[in-house]
Amino acid sequence: MSLCREVETEECYCDNKISHYIFSYLCKYSEKMKTKIDNLRRRVEDFVPQNVGEVEEFRIAVLGRNGELAALMDEFRTVPADQKRELGQALNQLKTLAQERVDGFKVASAQSTERMDLTRPGTADLAGSRHPVSIVKDRVCEIFTRLGFSIADGPEIEDDWHVFGALNFPPDHPARDMQDTFFITPDILLRTHTSSVQVRVMENQKPPIRVICPGRVYRNEAISARSHCMFHQVEGLYIDEGVSFADMKQAIDYFAKEFFGVHTEIRMRPSYFPFTEPSAEVDVSCQLCGGKGCAVCKGTGWLEIMGCGMVDPAVLEASGIDSSRYTGFAFGMGIERTAMLKYGIRDIRLLFENDVRFLRQVV
Ligand code: DAH
Repeated sequence: MSLCREVETEECYCDNKISHYIFSYLCKYSEKMKTKIDNLRRRVEDFVPQNVGEVEEFRIAVLGRNGELAALMDEFRTVPADQKRELGQALNQLKTLAQERVDGFKVASAQSTERMDLTRPGTADLAGSRHPVSIVKDRVCEIFTRLGFSIADGPEIEDDWHVFGALNFPPDHPARDMQDTFFITPDILLRTHTSSVQVRVMENQKPPIRVICPGRVYRNEAISARSHCMFHQVEGLYIDEGVSFADMKQAIDYFAKEFFGVHTEIRMRPSYFPFTEPSAEVDVSCQLCGGKGCAVCKGTGWLEIMGCGMVDPAVLEASGIDSSRYTGFAFGMGIERTAMLKYGIRDIRLLFENDVRFLRQVV
């Protein structure tokens, strides 16, 4: 700034108006202001906002009522008259520049919103979903709850009596073998089926008893596409006076139609379980081929879903229920197996790997 330098080099011509000292001070002062204007201009020119919010922040900070430009305008009032022209122009240019930049950014951001292609498919939010095992378990429980069954629970670490003894397994029954059962001590083991819960219920409740017992079970088996060392079962038990095989058949038929669909047929094949007599294996008509025969049902048109039978009088007596007065039926099914049949899952391991690409497909 030429004027100030002139002051400092004694070529001062201001004596008539104010003292040399004040003039010199004011000259330095206005030089400072020039620097401030230059700095702000550089910041305005360099400003690149990342979003609309930053543009507004910038507008308030620079052009706002209490912003930097307003402060410079205040300061401008104290500038010596002969420098007002130069500084005033610089300030006005800066104000115009800042305003243009703010307007420019606002227009650009409005245009980028307008340019959004609303016909493009959206990105779906990823929501969690229920596990197929939970879906099937809940559905089975819900259907039997409607028939008046209540839910019962029991421990996964059990004793020999509740898993085998009370259920009429002879001492040398192969299911007690180390091949099948995870023993913790010779008497304590991981339950191999949820039938143990029916024993606990019978010990603690008086008939009429109507319970459904979902839970986890363990078997010492090699893991493959068809079997796992840990899976889930649902056990059902109904004990009252005069409960018959026909009642059992009716309940299971109702369940099959509710769970697999109204056109589902069931058939019962004679079978053997130590805790029921007579016992049966229940098949449902194949969902995929409608009973005509396909790869899934191995050409038979039928798929096995559960075991069932009339509770053996020895089992009732073992838990303190008078077998001359009460009869009952029981059934048990694998939840993973049922899920595999319902959803066409070919490998049981998929149900335990928790790959979301698989889990998302089951609803
Ligand atoms: N507990 C049997 C199993 O694990 C399933 C079963 C069959 C349960 C017949 C029952 C039944 O209650 O009556 O293979």
